[in-house]
Order: sequence, then structure tokens, then C-alpha cells
Amino acid sequence: MDLFDKCRDFKIARQVQKAGLYPYFHRMESGQNAVVIVEGRRMIMMGSNNYLGLATDQRLKNAAIIATQKYGTGCVGSRFLNGTLDIHEKLERELADFIGKPSVLIFTTGMQVNLGVISGLVGKDDYIITDKYDHASIIDGCRLSGGKLLRFHHNDMKDLKNVLDKIPSAGGKLIVVDGVFSMEGDIAPLDKIVPLAKEYGARIMVDDAHGIGVLGRNGRGTCDSFGVTDKVDLIMGTFSKSFASIGGFIAADEEIIHYIKHYARSLIFSAAPSPAQAATVLRALEIIKKDTRRIKKLLSSAKYISGKLKQIGFNTSPALTPIIPVVIGDDMAAFKMWRMLYDRGVFVTPVVSPAVPPGRSLIRVSIMATHTKEHLDEACEAFEEAGNILGIINTGKLCTSREKHFRFSWNAVNRWMGNLWKLNRSKQPRN
Ligand SMILES: Cc1ncc(COP(=O)(O)O)c(C=O)c1O
Repeated sequence: MDLFDKCRDFKIARQVQKAGLYPYFHRMESGQNAVVIVEGRRMIMMGSNNYLGLATDQRLKNAAIIATQKYGTGCVGSRFLNGTLDIHEKLERELADFIGKPSVLIFTTGMQVNLGVISGLVGKDDYIITDKYDHASIIDGCRLSGGKLLRFHHNDMKDLKNVLDKIPSAGGKLIVVDGVFSMEGDIAPLDKIVPLAKEYGARIMVDDAHGIGVLGRNGRGTCDSFGVTDKVDLIMGTFSKSFASIGGFIAADEEIIHYIKHYARSLIFSAAPSPAQAATVLRALEIIKKDTRRIKKLLSSAKYISGKLKQIGFNTSPALTPIIPVVIGDDMAAFKMWRMLYDRGVFVTPVVSPAVPPGRSLIRVSIMATHTKEHLDEACEAFEEAGNILGIINTGKLCTSREKHFRFSWNAVNRWMGNLWKLNRSKQPRN
């Protein structure tokens, strides 16, 4: 058997492409803002994590240019060896102060933070306890660590307690949750997780990729919004969302950061964040600390559009974050809804099983502080038109779309997605 047989046999993505229902890898031809040019067409962008709208801000662009002129285009080596710059260390100090933890370590991507921190801290005799909706990078960090992975039902504290009850007292325990869950925009109940962790002697790590810059005082994140920053052991964040760049960080006590610095392979064996990356995030942080208007605008726009979509007749819940799930029904219906919105000039992301339970496929709408009321209203009009055509508004029913004329099988789509998500949402026996 040839290693590449699987590549030749992988037909499903091309079949979905041929049917015009392929929502991935569409080509952006402009900066990431409220309105973008996608494959030659103007579209309202409602599928971006540029929550504060800083990705095209002139002050951030200038910071990147100045840093590039001073330090060059790349660090050409790892933080561990030749790649640590004075601006990396400055950013670490400023982030530690902002988050409210003694120490911070920055990595080149958020994914690398989760891979390096979890695999660096957790050994084969330790237990990691994750929410079933945790991000793929957490799952991959757990797999790399060789520790024993246990999962509890999404945001279900009774189930978390059941899982903790079954763990023998020997062995370290780490509970890892997203602060804000990336697909549905709901929030981990940290006020309940903290006392449970204490009762069972477990440490807590919060991946706050979608909470930093949005929730808490001046965007200090989900832990800050619950007042539990000092009780959560490890706070992770990314620069690829509100900070409008790329990279990530971990915040914790100094001795924990010192240890991670010497054990996280994704830090040690990968090149450092570029000067432009570090300088952009420093500038974004300055703006976020001083200016709360963007956060207020962002959250009020999210509330406005979720209220309006509900009023139109969609199945959605009041927005707590900029991520608004619009539940459509089955996978085919979500892909068709995506396509109808795409044709009407609205860029969104369909989320299908196993990323969400079967029958609960959704359109993920994400809002930016730079959306105007006109953008939001225009998007709602497109939603209403598409929802009417699909027959999913004001019926109270989720859409099932079982057309025969597509020349591909949805089981094949689900198999491909399932493979992509690996352990993430598939039914895994608990060990
Ligand atoms: C919850 C969560 N954690 C981690 C990451 C990885 O971050 P990055 O894009 O910086 O690698 C993401 C990115 O999508 C995310 O949504």
C-alpha cells in the first residue's frame, strides 16, 4: 500500500466544492475589517475574530513598520537561543500587569501555547480533565503530554464532579476549559469550577483566546469577569483575536513560568514571534487598556444583532460575547444557509457535526467593534431572506435538508470532519 493512497481516495472535499457548498479557504483580497473583498466581491465580514477591529488600525500598522525597521523581519531563531528581544520581554511584563499574574511567557502562536504548556506540565501519571467543547489545540496538548485524558459534558458541573470523584488521589490533576467557547460563544462557569478544583486538589488552566480583550475590566478576560484571576493557576490567551496579530501567552506564578520556559518544546524548538508581531501586540494592549469604547460598542452590537435575529425568528440566544450561534439544523442545511448568505454578501462560518452535536449545526456569527448599525441591518436582511427560502424562520423547527441531487454523501463529510476533530467532540469512552 502506498502512503499517498489516502490522498488519492480523498474525494469528498472536491465533491462539496463542485456542489458549490464548500465554505473553506475562500480568498480574501482586502484587510480584515467589517467590510472585506472576497474573490472580487464586497462582503460584510461576520466570520472574523478581529473583535475590536484593530487589525487594520493605522497605529498598529505603524508599530509593525517601526519594529521591522529597527529589528528586521524575523528573529531567525527560538526564544531559547538567539530569538528573545527586549520587546518580547516588555510585552511579557505589560501582559503580566494587565492580566494580574506575576509572570507571562509569550509563544509564536496560541496553538503552540496549549501544546507546549500542557505537554510540558503534565506527565504520564497525571490526569487532564477537559470540557467536551474545548478547543482542538487543548486536545492536542493533552495527547502530546501522554497524561490520562478525561472529559466532562459541556459546562456540566455535576459531570465534572463525577469525573473528579473517579480519579485516584495520587497523580497531578489539571482541569482545562475555554473561558469563552469558540463555536457557541458561551462562557465556562469559573465560579463553580474554582471550588470544585479546590475540593479535589486539581489545578486549573483557562484558555481565554476569545475572552481576553472582550470580557472583564478593560478586556482583562473571563477570569477577571468572575473575579477569580488569583484562583486560576494558568491563564492562556492568543494574539490572533482581539490583539489583531498572531502569537499567544501563558500567565502564571513565576516558578511555573520558569519551569514551562525550560520544558515547553513548542517554545524551545520553534522560532520566536517576529518583531512586527510583538510590537503590534504591545500597541494593541496600550489601546485596549485606555479605550473601553470599542468593547462597549462590540458587546452592544452583538446584543443588537442577536436580538434582531431572534425577532426575525431564528433560534439563537442573547449574546454574552461577540460570538453568536444561529442554530440551523442538519449539516446540509447549515452549508446551504452559508451559501445563501455568501451569495447575499455576508461572510459567516458554518459549524457542523462533530464540532456540534448532530442536528444542531449552526452558523457562527462573530461581531467586530467596527460594524455599523447599517452593516448589522444589512446582514439581518440577508439572514431573513435566506431563512425564509430554507423555511427555518418562524416555524420553530430546525431545518433538515435531504436533497438527493447532490453527488456526495453526508456520511463522508461527517467522516472527514470527524477525522479533523479527532478526539474533540467524538464519543470517546472514558478511561
Ligand atoms: C479557544 C482557542 N484556543 C487556541 C486557539 C489557537 O490560537 P492561535 O490561532 O493563536 O494559534 C484558538 C484559535 O482559533 C482558539 O479559538
